[in-house]
Amino acid sequence: MNATDGAPLPLRIEHLTKRFRQGSVIIEALRDVSLEIARGEFVAVMGASGSGKSTLLHLAAGLTAPDEGRVFVDGEDLAGMSDRRLTIFRRRRIGVMFQAFNLIPSLTAEQNVLLPVRTDGRAASARERFESLFARLRLKERRTHRPDALSGGEQQRVAFARALIADPAIVLADEPTGSLDSVTGQELCRLLQELCREQNRTIVVVTHEPAVATWTDRVIVLADGRVLADFRTEKFSDAQSLAAHYHDTVRAASPLEASS
Ligand SMILES: Nc1ncnc2c1ncn2[C@@H]1O[C@H](COP(=O)(O)OP(=O)(O)OP(=O)(O)O)[C@@H](O)[C@H]1O
Ligand SMILES: [Mg+2]
Repeated sequence: MNATDGAPLPLRIEHLTKRFRQGSVIIEALRDVSLEIARGEFVAVMGASGSGKSTLLHLAAGLTAPDEGRVFVDGEDLAGMSDRRLTIFRRRRIGVMFQAFNLIPSLTAEQNVLLPVRTDGRAASARERFESLFARLRLKERRTHRPDALSGGEQQRVAFARALIADPAIVLADEPTGSLDSVTGQELCRLLQELCREQNRTIVVVTHEPAVATWTDRVIVLADGRVLADFRTEKFSDAQSLAAHYHDTVRAASPLEASS
């Protein structure tokens, strides 16, 4: 993993709090979360259902505004931007991939991937990146396929290519392997790891699966809207030992949570 080398961090989050009002109840989905992600890092965000993982990703992607705290992507404060500037910044600097792949059914794989840069008038300069991404993600033979003529794993890779086409500072993915069988999921993880190592890409994935987390460099565990743990994965030789550590971490914290 590279340190900052003077360049801004892909993602810096300071004291983020996000509340949702549900009738008369206020839910604190995130409570004073601060973290930094370095360039080239492959990071997993884990935690029980409702712990705030998707909320964190949405805030980092500039899709929702926090109630307190700040999000800096590539050194830029998202809160300081007008809506128009934020839209353009997001298109250029933030790659997202949420649970539904959101591929457009009437467009081919190639057209789906190029859509964000077309909208931005930058399709010509993205051509080379497109070719290399399609080769890297093993999609070369699938460029004219529409989404319904792609396997789940291929659709997922097309969605990743689309998230990467603008050369973003960071890619944020919510459960990218959720709908894939385990072999296909592992294959996607290996590709993502290679993209981080070879091209210094920065990728954050939300996952429930320790088998996915073992491919990453670092795991951030959320519990009840807070960062419960933040550890490097290199000390775990396999998914079982990482899973055991993860479950111990969550279990050790739950008596405190129950009493608060
Ligand atoms: N739009 C919303 N309105 C009200 N409450 C919300 C909203 N979005 C999220 N929440 C609440 O905020 C908390 C965190 O939700 P979030 O979706 O971030 O959880 P998660 O960790 O992604 O869970 P999962 O693993 O089930 O996807 C939950 O209690 C959820 O019910
Ligand atoms: Mg979620």
